[in-house]
Amino acid sequence: ERPQLLIGRRIVVTSGPTHEPIDPVRYIANRSSGKQGHAIAKAAAAAGADVTLVTGPVNLPDPAGVTTIHVETADQMLAAVEAALPSDIGVFAAAVADWRTAKAGDQKLKKDGKAIPPLALVENPDILATISKSKAMRPQLVVGFAAETQNVIENAKAKLQRKGCDLIVANDVSLDNGIGVMGGDANRVHLISADGTVSWPTLSKDDVAERLVAHLAAILSTETQ
Ligand code: C5P
Repeated sequence: ERPQLLIGRRIVVTSGPTHEPIDPVRYIANRSSGKQGHAIAKAAAAAGADVTLVTGPVNLPDPAGVTTIHVETADQMLAAVEAALPSDIGVFAAAVADWRTAKAGDQKLKKDGKAIPPLALVENPDILATISKSKAMRPQLVVGFAAETQNVIENAKAKLQRKGCDLIVANDVSLDNGIGVMGGDANRVHLISADGTVSWPTLSKDDVAERLVAHLAAILSTETQ
């Protein structure tokens, strides 16, 4: 039996990639597996929280005891997160596409032997920053992720400021031993907040999730006292 550290708390978690349509049969995507986000939703539910998981397309089962909302695009993910709020905690673990096509084709683009179609892109909403900076919707505790390939801690500190969140979970995705790689099962993370940096050893994504849930519960209980 796990300690019920988050009983009476609501948490919204984003997970997975987004798919941004090019036309009815093609899309822009990324290598996110959703494993870390889903593990966090599962661990929060095991700790007694009321959990809504907003996930892009993944090859993972919906975690038991979690309200799971399936979306495709960044716009849909933002709308689903807004609909799931208010909550005490927001954990933004999704790998949201930075750009979408300016206009997705209604019909399949045809290879007509002439011009190659240009892919004009526009910026997607930043879900983490939008919720973090919202006066009306901001959860008490907002957590972002940072997958970096260089200057991990430095970049994460800048991201903490830029996004306006309370905590960044940063991991080095350039490691070539399978740790931190998208789709892998292990993660070596650093927790960056205004209080400083805490580095955890290499852990399974399930163990990162459990530790993170305990960490968030501890922050909430001191802030609420
Ligand atoms: O800016 P970058 O994509 O590196 O930031 C990563 C963090 O921001 C993650 O927590 C991710 O879920 C969140 N994010 C988001 N919406 C975006 C881009 C990133 O919520 N459009």
